[in-house]
Amino acid sequence: MINYTEKIPNNVDLGRDRVLQRALEHWQPAYLSWWYDMGPNESHDFEVYLRTATSVEPDGWAQFDYVKMPEYRWGIFLQPRDEKRQVNFGIHKGQPAWQDVPGEYRSILRRIIVTQGDTEPASVEQQKMLGLSCPSLYDLRNIFQVNVEEGRHLWAMVYLLHRYFGRDGREEAESLLARRSGDTDNPRILGAFNEPTPDWLAFYMFTFFTDRDGKFQLCALAESGFDPLARTCRFMLTEEAHHMFVGESGVSRIIQRTCEVMKENKIDAPADVRSLGVIDLQTIQRYLNFHYSVTLDLYGSDVSSNAANYYTSGLKGRFRETKLEDDHTLRDAMYPVSEVVGNKINTKQVPALTALNERLRDDYIEEIQAGVNRWQRVIDEAGIAFRLTLPHKGFHREIGNFTGHFISTTGEILTEEQWKAHEFEWLPSPKDYSYVQSLMSGRVAELGKFANWIAPPVKGVNGQALDFQYVRFN
Ligand SMILES: [Fe+2]
Ligand SMILES: [Fe+2]
Repeated sequence: MINYTEKIPNNVDLGRDRVLQRALEHWQPAYLSWWYDMGPNESHDFEVYLRTATSVEPDGWAQFDYVKMPEYRWGIFLQPRDEKRQVNFGIHKGQPAWQDVPGEYRSILRRIIVTQGDTEPASVEQQKMLGLSCPSLYDLRNIFQVNVEEGRHLWAMVYLLHRYFGRDGREEAESLLARRSGDTDNPRILGAFNEPTPDWLAFYMFTFFTDRDGKFQLCALAESGFDPLARTCRFMLTEEAHHMFVGESGVSRIIQRTCEVMKENKIDAPADVRSLGVIDLQTIQRYLNFHYSVTLDLYGSDVSSNAANYYTSGLKGRFRETKLEDDHTLRDAMYPVSEVVGNKINTKQVPALTALNERLRDDYIEEIQAGVNRWQRVIDEAGIAFRLTLPHKGFHREIGNFTGHFISTTGEILTEEQWKAHEFEWLPSPKDYSYVQSLMSGRVAELGKFANWIAPPVKGVNGQALDFQYVRFN
């Protein structure tokens, strides 16, 4: 008899739910073999200083200790239930929140959960090789932390599938382990999760931009009238904050190091900067342009009847839905969206219900802009005249109203030929990638040491020193 609290920490009374136990007993070995296959390369014997959530109490969700990742205790946690919670938007507004799947929404809800769930293992797959070229033990530990938590997020979605969707749910849970990021025959569901994450600059950009899309999607689902989904997503958000921290501070430390070298040596031409083994700010800008534009596509079409349906049905809310002051049904509200007319970008008002993807994207952009401003401060404080900017919303887009148009980073509509002539001023070129990767040819593993291209962080993990042994290699 398995001790479920020990093996799978949970607050869903797993020890007493036989059906769920059977489903998970079947799924767990498949999950582990996925982890051995697609989890961080050559890492299975490492002992990593990781935090594990063992309960949702403030003192239980961040327990730090050395763990071998295949032995990580992937737990199932939901934010505690609020008995008075209601459906807070859409046509069911005011009804008690659903504790079971409403029959008429079963397939949409399953689709929403599968789409979210699919992103979790995808990012682990994308980041699989990066441990081999980490800039320090501190960073190595951080990427592994992100990876095991994405694994836990997959568990969280699989719990919902197993617990609430019967046989279809079990089949979907298996498919989540069968798709592979970037695979031609069986790729992950969403585009950005099939792009490679080839180096650490890409990794930090990904965790800043794409994990933040994760945050906004989770926030919208945390408003769901389907209470178990809402409560699961609430708890996932506590972990997502750390992923975004890793990304924001990682990019910031790279910028800081570049600025230090530029200042010390009184140089600013990218070739000179590169000759000293750090990443030029122009390349950082191009990575930013790439990750931003690819992530914007994750929000879906600007005008979407699916998004309207999810909202009207009470399944997926807006960012901070319950804090917004309006009717929460959006009966008469309008919202601006962009469209390309001839060679101009116009704004038009559409029913707000249909523009919910665009609205969530705009909420996201606001937060992203604040983060980019913080990066800019590092450059300003070094006294270097360089501006990091977010490209125009229409730049390099493949989903929504900008699809098929060739839009510059400043929002001009170009011909394909004109755009192509500038492509590698705006997006990383193969040469940029190979330069960045040339800096990351091996693992920096000495205690307290950091690769030349990145500054050390301000402080260590959980109060530990920077020269702490964050990973034991065995
Ligand atoms: Fe996640
Ligand atoms: Fe994440």
